Amino acid sequence: MDFLWSCLCVLVIQHIVVGVRYDPTWESIDSRPLPQWYDEAKLGIFIHWGVFSVPSLNNEWFWYRWKHDKNPEIVNFMKNNYRPDFTYPDFASQFTAEFYNPAQWADIFQASGAEYVVLVSKHHEGFTNWPSNYSFNWNSMAVGPKRDLVGDLAKAIRQNTSIHFGLYHSLFEWYNPYYLQDKANNFSTQYFVNGKTMPELYELVNNYKPEVIWSDGDWEASSDYWDSKQFIAWLYNDSPVKDTVVTNDRWGKDSTCHHGGYLTCQDRYQPGVLQKRKWENAMTIDKKSWGFRRNAALDEYLTTDELIDTFVETVSCGGNMLMNVGPTKEGTIRPIFETRLRDVGSWLSVNGEAIRSSKPWISQNDTSNSKSLYTMKNSDVYAIVLDWPTTSTLSLGAPNPQPDTTVSLLGYNGGTFTWKSRQGGGMDIMIPAIPANKMPCQWAWVFKLSGLS
Ligand SMILES: *[C@@H]1O[C@H](CO)[C@@H](O)[C@H](O)[C@H]1NC(C)=O
Ligand SMILES: *[C@@H]1O[C@H](CO)[C@@H](O)[C@H](O)[C@H]1NC(C)=O
Ligand SMILES: *[C@@H]1O[C@H](CO)[C@@H](O)[C@H](O)[C@H]1NC(C)=O
Ligand SMILES: *[C@@H]1O[C@H](CO)[C@@H](O)[C@H](O)[C@H]1NC(C)=O
Repeated sequence: MDFLWSCLCVLVIQHIVVGVRYDPTWESIDSRPLPQWYDEAKLGIFIHWGVFSVPSLNNEWFWYRWKHDKNPEIVNFMKNNYRPDFTYPDFASQFTAEFYNPAQWADIFQASGAEYVVLVSKHHEGFTNWPSNYSFNWNSMAVGPKRDLVGDLAKAIRQNTSIHFGLYHSLFEWYNPYYLQDKANNFSTQYFVNGKTMPELYELVNNYKPEVIWSDGDWEASSDYWDSKQFIAWLYNDSPVKDTVVTNDRWGKDSTCHHGGYLTCQDRYQPGVLQKRKWENAMTIDKKSWGFRRNAALDEYLTTDELIDTFVETVSCGGNMLMNVGPTKEGTIRPIFETRLRDVGSWLSVNGEAIRSSKPWISQNDTSNSKSLYTMKNSDVYAIVLDWPTTSTLSLGAPNPQPDTTVSLLGYNGGTFTWKSRQGGGMDIMIPAIPANKMPCQWAWVFKLSGLS
């Protein structure tokens, strides 16, 4: 009897806590607490892959830049290399993915230290990287790879890593006739929403159980046209991922940067100051494109140093970084991307303590004699120095040390450093000469300040 009673009690309490239901209004959707795993993760990998990976020129907007903008680089490329009546959909049969090895991708992503991935399931071209029942003849099982690209990566990630699996999905499609019809009707009809884009989203969630839905392609119409509030309410209330899923803000021109889950605002968003709401910096290793570019030059890729600076700046202001790679049409991740990912992972293996599960501190950056950014965890503060100090003193303006404050360098086993209070606030840390082979890493260094207050 007692046992039964306590079981019932637990059930009731769980129901109260877990049983919160959300209404299809922004007010209700915005009130949902963000699942903790996402805030703690800090780093994700974005993967832009689709038919645009076949020409792999200019960027993933190839079709639109060619037909709508008449971009000269693309127009000339097509004139010089393809028969006159070649169409964009003709590229799909060359999307071969013959070297696609999801287990190898999973291994590279794991080595980067990322805790989630977001794979493009469908970009604005409308081609679905899974065998959708709503994309007849324009999906990866029917044409090109003849494979379920989404399902195969989901399996490898889940079987071989602890990474959370997420999906990008474009609401609109440049040339879908039903979309163009709705647009011509000033979005007073929803042929495309009801027949294509919403059914796809439900299909994706039910089949692949993604823990991130990264929506895009929303900006021409309102969230009322897209029915996105209804979808998100279902996602949070009744979907198979309701307890762990996170989503972004690109659900209609009224929602971006204001409503939904976390905020992405613009591409490569980097506000530089602490934000009230959780946000994400979605950015690219290739500075000019999300999709793979065959003719990218070395200096068009961010260096590891630049990637880590961007990452630390993002985390210090409360953001996550979603770092994009563009695989080739053959299904390979080129060594330039792999090197960057493995470098970031090796930096995190030394300095992850200051990043993963960290929180922003009361100060985000310091403009004393070396550029430093701050994070904190428990009662420790981490001063992340982007360039190794050129003098034997590192001056920090924000921390006010106490008598028993200790300073150490993550990954360095030569002991703690001495320090002095600065007049008017802050501290000077004395840096001994450290031989190159004793330096813990090569890109940004983390000073751990314990016992500050
Ligand atoms: C498409 O529909 C069939 C038949 O109802 C179903 O078995 C299959 O799982 C569906 N495909 C997807 C991707 O949901
Ligand atoms: C997991 O990794 C092993 C070893 O690399 C590989 O043989 C296996 O196919 C992978 N699992 C999946 C689902 O890819
Ligand atoms: C759409 O709106 C425009 C401008 O307000 C108007 O000129 C046009 O007639 C409208 N079209 C339809 C189909 O309602
Ligand atoms: C440092 O903080 C100031 C204001 O607090 C901000 O304007 C600036 O962008 C920040 N710089 C970095 C690198 O985060």
